[in-house]
Amino acid sequence: MLRRRVLFIGLAVLLATGIGHAEPALNIVIYGATGEIGTHIVREALQRDHRVTAVSRNPAGLEMQHPNLSTVKGDLLDRASVSAIVTGKDVVIVSVRGVIGDSATPESALQFIAAEMLVDVLFPMGDNAPRLIHVGGSGSLEVEPGVLFAEKLPKILLPKDLEVEILGQILALEFYRKVDDVHWTYITPPRNFTNGERSGVFRIGGDQALKDSRGRTRVSRADFAVAIIDEAEQAMYPRQRISVAY
Ligand SMILES: NC(=O)c1ccc[n+]([C@@H]2O[C@H](COP(=O)([O-])OP(=O)(O)OC[C@H]3O[C@@H](n4cnc5c(N)ncnc54)[C@H](OP(=O)(O)O)[C@@H]3O)[C@@H](O)[C@H]2O)c1
Repeated sequence: MLRRRVLFIGLAVLLATGIGHAEPALNIVIYGATGEIGTHIVREALQRDHRVTAVSRNPAGLEMQHPNLSTVKGDLLDRASVSAIVTGKDVVIVSVRGVIGDSATPESALQFIAAEMLVDVLFPMGDNAPRLIHVGGSGSLEVEPGVLFAEKLPKILLPKDLEVEILGQILALEFYRKVDDVHWTYITPPRNFTNGERSGVFRIGGDQALKDSRGRTRVSRADFAVAIIDEAEQAMYPRQRISVAY
């Protein structure tokens, strides 16, 4: 009897303090797991006890090791491979960049191609489809009413591939906004990423760039990853674009 009471009190304390959170572990696929942002997302997901499938065209390049981490060779340009990797998973996170071919059009940005590919693969899965979280680009945020950050960038100083990627991210968001039969969330970082620590304290906004008290729009990569895995766990923003910043 006493043992049962101690167990009950212990459980109540754990729940009250949030330690050993009750969320069931998710099966999360991460495209871009070798990337600057993706590495932080992988780390955050593992820290919260989720099972991570890290995708890379060259998985030997993935140095992280963890019992809940599996690595798989995959390419977002290969539909059969995408379909095989995402089937049966809970969440797919896409945090990739690149420009395909030399047309230099926004349609050639991997961020847009990935959005189209994943929606195309997930749609036929219906209710069994994993949720999709897309790491967006800050060029798509409004810096003043009706004016996107992308429109304010000095084109002359911008490398051509970066310009294509920025426009590709805007196109990807426009594309998602027409998709009402796949559970997507487009999460946009602010203009600047920092190397700061994981604080777990940030704000969630919408289409307007969030500024801190000194007019800066920034967040650490580690905190951005917290926001991504929060959404993976809580599915708070279905078919919406949100932004993250201090
Ligand atoms: N302020 C901002 O708005 C801002 C700043 C930085 C980044 N971002 C966004 O954040 C996202 C990630 O950027 P990042 O800087 O972390 O990128 P990154 O370090 O350059 O990494 C790019 C990733 O894309 C993956 N990739 C490339 N081609 C692929 C393909 N065909 N199939 C599957 N994966 C492929 C690479 O994986 P493998 O080479 O291992 O296959 C790599 O992990 C992008 O969407 C970018 O636009 C936004």
